[in-house]
Amino acid sequence: MDLITDKEKIIDDLKKELERINDLQEFQNLKSQYLGKKGKIKSLMNNLKNLDENSKKEYGQSVNELKNEIGIIFNEKFTKLIEKEREEKEKEKWIDVTIPGAHRKLGKESLITNTRKEIEKIFLGLGFSVAEGPEIENSWYNFDALNTPQWHPAREMQDTFYLSTDKSKLLRTHTSPVQVRTMLKNSPPLAIISPGRVYRKDELDATHSPVFHQVEGLYVDKNVSVSHLKMYLEVFAQKLFGNKVSVLLRPSYFPFTEPSFEVDISCIFCGGKGCKVCKNSGWIEILGAGLVHPNVFKSVDYDPEKWQGFAFGMGIERIAMLKNNIPDIREFYKNDISFIENL
Ligand code: PHE
Repeated sequence: MDLITDKEKIIDDLKKELERINDLQEFQNLKSQYLGKKGKIKSLMNNLKNLDENSKKEYGQSVNELKNEIGIIFNEKFTKLIEKEREEKEKEKWIDVTIPGAHRKLGKESLITNTRKEIEKIFLGLGFSVAEGPEIENSWYNFDALNTPQWHPAREMQDTFYLSTDKSKLLRTHTSPVQVRTMLKNSPPLAIISPGRVYRKDELDATHSPVFHQVEGLYVDKNVSVSHLKMYLEVFAQKLFGNKVSVLLRPSYFPFTEPSFEVDISCIFCGGKGCKVCKNSGWIEILGAGLVHPNVFKSVDYDPEKWQGFAFGMGIERIAMLKNNIPDIREFYKNDISFIENL
């Protein structure tokens, strides 16, 4: 056998095979095919025993040389593979700062929150501050102190969720009890608004919900008259719905105000000419209001001879529906994200 020509071929083959190898596992397999216990070098060595003494030495040396050469070739390849692996790991670590960021969907404020904040902002600008009260209320705050004693027929005006059989605890039917709480805690003059959730035993339909939101307003000072009330409401309505809007007070009844009014704004859809929304009247009702009843002042120990005030209460959903042209109150409670996304 001519080991010299074989040697060149073996090395050539090995180099070709190594060229197409690019991971360490394949590399190890190939290495043991050449240098392992059952590898090519080993089988060449096994030929030794068939040779005569003279050739043995030369042959042995030659195989050893081949073994060394192959060893060097494998080592070189090994270094390359390790280097390549290191580079790949580096690449993974590399950050391309020019790639656009992943777009995370931003949440949107609920329309009720958004409208409440808008109302608050207007009144804060007019010198009012924000007061809060509990949703679970004593009937004294919700009714009695607001000139609505137990026998009073007006208690039936609002269907109440009572929380105790003696009807002393209830879910507040309006934000007006915050008027009482605020006056008990502060001395006049004062100007507050109070936003919050209220509850009534109403069936859910396009304009009613058993849970909804109101903003209460209370202004107490000396010599307060209906003209103050009208002026504040006009400024409010114009800031909210635009400068062209005018305000109309219609006589009404609430036990805790005297006189009492339903307050309309000129129709924001037809400008007052008459349309479907305002039922051709040119006006849209937005809130209830009036001058604070002397009996309310008495129940918080304010002297009605000395102090006067106005109060108002509006539904946040109603305002939001008008402002955003939403025909059905149930849209607010469906939790359908497209509702606020499409506003
Ligand atoms: N509390 C009344 C309601 O819920 C609204 C109102 C508030 C009216 C203050 C007059 C004064 O209908």
